[in-house]
Amino acid sequence: MHNSYSFYHSPKTLDEALYLKAKYGDDARAVAGATDLLVEIERGVRKRSDGRAPGMIDLTRIPGLAVIEAHSGLIELGPLVTHNQCVASALIVERAFPLARACWEVGAPQIRNRATVVGNLITASPANDTIAPLLALDASITVRSSERGARIMPLVEFITGFRKVDLAPDELVTKVSFPALNARTDGLFIKLGLRRAQAISVVNVAVLIEREQPTGDAPVVRAAIALGAVAPVVVRAAAAETFLIGKPLNAASIAEAARLAVTAAAPIDDMRSSAEYRRGMIETLTARALHQIAAGAARAGWPQKPILLWGDTDGVWPVTTPGKAKAAGAPDVREKRALVNGRVTPLQGGMTLLDSLRAAGLVGVKEGCAEGECGACTVSLDGMAVMACMAPAERAWGSTVVTVEGIRATEQLHPVQQALVQSGGVQCGYCTPGFVMSAAKLLEERPHPTAAEAAEALTGNFCRCTGYHKILDAVVLAGTLQPTAGEPDETV
Ligand SMILES: Cc1cc2nc3c(=O)[nH]c(=O)nc-3n(C[C@H](O)[C@H](O)[C@H](O)COP(=O)(O)OP(=O)(O)OC[C@H]3O[C@@H](n4cnc5c(N)ncnc54)[C@H](O)[C@@H]3O)c2cc1C
Ligand code: FES
Ligand code: FES
Repeated sequence: MHNSYSFYHSPKTLDEALYLKAKYGDDARAVAGATDLLVEIERGVRKRSDGRAPGMIDLTRIPGLAVIEAHSGLIELGPLVTHNQCVASALIVERAFPLARACWEVGAPQIRNRATVVGNLITASPANDTIAPLLALDASITVRSSERGARIMPLVEFITGFRKVDLAPDELVTKVSFPALNARTDGLFIKLGLRRAQAISVVNVAVLIEREQPTGDAPVVRAAIALGAVAPVVVRAAAAETFLIGKPLNAASIAEAARLAVTAAAPIDDMRSSAEYRRGMIETLTARALHQIAAGAARAGWPQKPILLWGDTDGVWPVTTPGKAKAAGAPDVREKRALVNGRVTPLQGGMTLLDSLRAAGLVGVKEGCAEGECGACTVSLDGMAVMACMAPAERAWGSTVVTVEGIRATEQLHPVQQALVQSGGVQCGYCTPGFVMSAAKLLEERPHPTAAEAAEALTGNFCRCTGYHKILDAVVLAGTLQPTAGEPDETV
């Protein structure tokens, strides 16, 4: 059993959430995706004055907070906008590409389906991926309290130090806003991690360049270069930015700007990298980003149709299909029960969804790491693949949950299960349920996945024994088996 939060509230309106935040102050934390907060509570990092874990005010049942909108040249993100929503948003990809790219680099699909941009900013680790692009985009943060109303401040002032933000005990963040990029501005985000997914940035760089013309030798009129994981807070490389103004992007100007970028950093030695290596990589990544922009290749490698693992939802919390869940027999949230694998099931609160499902007898949901890293606990929550160890159990009350026990609609194995057996991909009982769940979600959005798509979908699922080849073969094979995979008929 793990450390538990001391209470849980799930307000239905922002006013109610603000009232609760004013009432409890530092004794309660607002929670969105919970992917940082649950880990912090488990590690004893977030404590109340009496030493106990804080309570939770879960914002994810408040409608309208997961919106991405454009108003008068400004793009606005609500506090529940997830990384996957940014990845899937044509507006963000078109007009704020470095943010889309950074969101795509966060964790794995199951994390991106729950984790929010606002949560990423509030945790304020200098390695957090969305901070550099939003700093380069000159983002502003709106915070609100029930007593004093709204305050708006630049992101650079909101983050006051290493993992510190300017947020009073009674305040919530309600908006992130930034100017949409114009047609003359190009930019990107590059992350260096120790592996391709589920990795904290060793260094990351966000670069925006506005030129009189977006191609050729046109001089730079505005440059923004932000560097992550190289100082206690994410920093702008002011000397490099100033140097570039009025110059064309060519080999000489890029080399000098990249050299100047290093002067903004104060990196440290840690388990992921030496300070010296980080300094070298700032220069390399800054130069790489500027060369890509000069070559018109800022979007190189961006997937046309990113893998989301959110089924037929639109990835918005709370799900915009409550009618469908009700029709399928989901109980009222006040009953403290969920529709699990088509059956109304009581779920204990005060623990993670993983622990609660296992306590309810659904032991196909495995605990590998309990920190969102391994994917063994992958379930479908309201149609989206999530890590059950990273969700409070109460969040599933009134919702639909599918676990590996409920993945097949009939007596026959699900196509992914059949394919795993046929391919010799059932390697151990710990990881396989999670692989099955992620692969089944993939088939919903890619009925005939390629090996590359299978690999992308399984970036959040780890095997520590034999390897991935047979598992990936199985996912591709599953796409050739009938019937096409999907969640079970929840009316059964
Ligand atoms: C396995 C794993 C991999 C990860 N990989 C990455 C990665 O590659 N890159 C990266 O940058 N991060 C990564 N993270 C960290 C994490 O997922 C992100 O920081 C995420 O964006 C946090 O969002 P959340 O909604 O889950 O935040 P939560 O955990 O819900 O909240 C985070 C903090 O913000 C507060 N909070 C949330 N919303 C509000 C609000 N509206 N008002 C006031 N306070 C609020 C909470 O009280 C808490 O202190 C990873 C985490 C895990 C577990
Ligand atoms: S990801 Fe949940 S147990 Fe490892
Ligand atoms: S499948 Fe479980 S460790 Fe490899």
